[in-house]
Amino acid sequence: MRIPLDRQSEIPVYEQIEKTLRKNILSGNLAPETRLPGTRTLAEELGVSRITVKNAYAWLESDGLIATRAGSGTYVLAQEEIGAVPKLDKTIPWPLWQQQFYREEPPPVGPARPQRDRLQLIQFTGVGDPDQFPLRDFTKSLLAVLRRDGVAALEYGDFNGGHLPLRRTIAHILASQGIQARPENILVTSGSQQALSLICQVLLKAGDVILVEKPTYNFALELFRDLGYIVEGIPIDGNGMRVEDLELLLQQAHPKLIYTIPNFQNPSGVCMSSPRRRQLLALSDRYNIPILEDDFAGDLRYDGRTQPAIKGLDNGGRVIYTGTFSKMLMPGLRMGFLLADGPIFARLVEHKRVHDLATSSLLQRTLDEYVTVGRYQAHLRRSCRVYSKRREAMLAAIGRHLPKEVTVDPPQGGLFIWLRLPEGIPSPELLEAALEEGVEFAPGTRFFPDPAEGERYLRLNFATQPPENIEAGIRRLGKAMKYKGVSSDHW
Ligand SMILES: Cc1ncc(COP(=O)(O)O)c(C=O)c1O
Repeated sequence: MRIPLDRQSEIPVYEQIEKTLRKNILSGNLAPETRLPGTRTLAEELGVSRITVKNAYAWLESDGLIATRAGSGTYVLAQEEIGAVPKLDKTIPWPLWQQQFYREEPPPVGPARPQRDRLQLIQFTGVGDPDQFPLRDFTKSLLAVLRRDGVAALEYGDFNGGHLPLRRTIAHILASQGIQARPENILVTSGSQQALSLICQVLLKAGDVILVEKPTYNFALELFRDLGYIVEGIPIDGNGMRVEDLELLLQQAHPKLIYTIPNFQNPSGVCMSSPRRRQLLALSDRYNIPILEDDFAGDLRYDGRTQPAIKGLDNGGRVIYTGTFSKMLMPGLRMGFLLADGPIFARLVEHKRVHDLATSSLLQRTLDEYVTVGRYQAHLRRSCRVYSKRREAMLAAIGRHLPKEVTVDPPQGGLFIWLRLPEGIPSPELLEAALEEGVEFAPGTRFFPDPAEGERYLRLNFATQPPENIEAGIRRLGKAMKYKGVSSDHW
């Protein structure tokens, strides 16, 4: 047992031991029924006399924190306060270096909490529906891997890109999407968020400009801001990024990277048209700027024609592609990957290795086992069926319960419906009213480099809730809009 002792202190050593144990018992770190070391053992470990330890134990025992049981040992007793970590002593100021981290404002993103607990909150946020996670099959795969690979599954694993069989499997999946990928060019990452972070850190430094769609994925925006980049936005329309507007920006802003989500974009749900994909690639070539293609949910298509991946059109290492198993399987796997050709690949592998050594070998093997037995394809088909029905349910509910001025562009896949509000209801304000009614959405302000541009928008995730909750949730949203003063002739 590690108990820090200060032998120069005026506080007697037995009291120091007693205080440390007391703190750990009251905070729950030492759980009830934990057996404390014998007095002789602890005395030897700490280099103190046995009587010192006995004194410390005696004080704790007299306060009812521990009990000695004859012939058995000394045990921690259950306390009413167990689990409550003692409050920090506010009279001791934080060290100076901590003070630079004070925040005036609460963090810009974070799950909002309902102000009313009478209603169960219906959340149109998050990613997929946990009820759809393939828990049973994945458990079988996990056990199969442990039985098959034994302790090898518990090693760090391959530092040079990840578990090779999984990278082969990913290459097969990509081939079915028209991307010719070699396993040697695939790096397994801890979610695609890590892939975004690695790529940016290798290509950009603080103060560099990054181009993004406007709106774009909120946690990418947060990442870029955190890394100190200047974020410039290019508007989108029903065919994705307005590539026509790009050239001038490339000339003026000299960006180091173009970040795009061409399929079922987060948050707008739109897909970039094929001509624009080709045009974007041509511009990247002409201006010598890499493209980061984030294909987070490209497999979740419910209707319409598939567009070629920009990476699939690239024959010269201009595009770095990222994918994830978070939306198609489950986000808690933290399993994503990047595909990059050319000398940058080795640099990305090295960057990943020095920053987090490796992604869980056990989970990589399990994922590979799960995917190769074909359950993945079946799961994907099932998810598409379920989610497309939910999309229909949400579009119908929007038609029934929201004002006519609310506009949506029905997405052909993915997870999100992007909603444009009538004038005069800023979405963060509407969110407050919506939470009061028991429904949560993501306000548009989170998705723009300049949050004010997102006030007229909100994002609804239709995949997380069953149809009956979708109906109830959109009805509540309608009520919140009414409460926020959308005039009656809008209805
Ligand atoms: C567009 C987009 N890219 C990347 C990610 C990161 O996903 P993960 O790190 O879970 O793979 C998300 C998560 O929601 C996303 O929406």
